[in-house]
Amino acid sequence: MTNHTDTIVLVPGGAGEVGAGIVQAFLDTGPTVIVPSRSQDHPDDLHKHLESTGTATDQLTSLVGNIGQIDGAKELRDDILEQFGRVDTVVASLGGPQPIERLIDVPQEMWDQVIDNFMTAHFVVARTFLPLLAEQDEGSYTMINGLSGPTGDIAAPASGLMAIASAGEHMLMRALAESAEHHGESVRINELVPLTPLITRSRTNTDSEWMPAEEFGLVAVALAMEYNYHREAIGVYSQSDVRRWQVRSGEWTPV
Ligand SMILES: NC(=O)c1ccc[n+]([C@@H]2O[C@H](COP(=O)([O-])OP(=O)(O)OC[C@H]3O[C@@H](n4cnc5c(N)ncnc54)[C@H](OP(=O)(O)O)[C@@H]3O)[C@@H](O)[C@H]2O)c1
Repeated sequence: MTNHTDTIVLVPGGAGEVGAGIVQAFLDTGPTVIVPSRSQDHPDDLHKHLESTGTATDQLTSLVGNIGQIDGAKELRDDILEQFGRVDTVVASLGGPQPIERLIDVPQEMWDQVIDNFMTAHFVVARTFLPLLAEQDEGSYTMINGLSGPTGDIAAPASGLMAIASAGEHMLMRALAESAEHHGESVRINELVPLTPLITRSRTNTDSEWMPAEEFGLVAVALAMEYNYHREAIGVYSQSDVRRWQVRSGEWTPV
């Protein structure tokens, strides 16, 4: 596997279920990986989980702060710039509990929280870190989303709120990409979507249809290397999709 020891990767939401798999996949290729979290407990759990999988964590830096709010994100950005000088790649895997509720029964508090976790936090991270990537020749910005975003499908009658938030995140990706192009910025902005349930540290399943989150994370690594992709919504359905991505980016060569 290619070694990316000079690369600085930021994974907002990296202490979450999907984020932990993305962090593991990046760490295996050698870059510095920075994971912000609003709590100290989540990074501690992430470290323990990674160590239990045999993943080396010496290149992992955890920072406590709220990357989903303007002031917290600025503080984290300043801290990162002071410690590392730049950011090359962002993979934002933000989210939270996914409510199952008939749309017209959704309390405003739940509405606000889902919009905050799935849309506002993505907006704030992009607003704060995209200008840094725009300074890099080959900066890569990836947003993790659910299926409803790019397809517009509503998975179940009670998942309307999630579908709305995912669709908003999808349009955010497109609008950010459009704006970057308009301003002549070379940063590549894409969206990456698991099309099959993921096996995560707290959601284990031996069903062969399910994919380990760290396998999905390998596509995030490949996408960071793949210079032709921009403004794309990329679905990952199976482990053969993962292999195709690794081959395409030169990350992995079949024997
Ligand atoms: N889990 C799956 O199988 C699956 C399948 C398909 C798609 N997805 C997509 O993957 C993404 C991540 O899902 P997940 O299951 O990994 O979620 P998760 O376990 O809840 O992790 C999300 C992380 O995002 C951070 N976050 C959430 N709201 C935030 C906010 N307002 N401000 C700052 N940070 C915030 C949290 O970090 P801290 O609390 O540590 O600060 C949390 O660790 C979502 O877009 C989801 O739709 C997941």
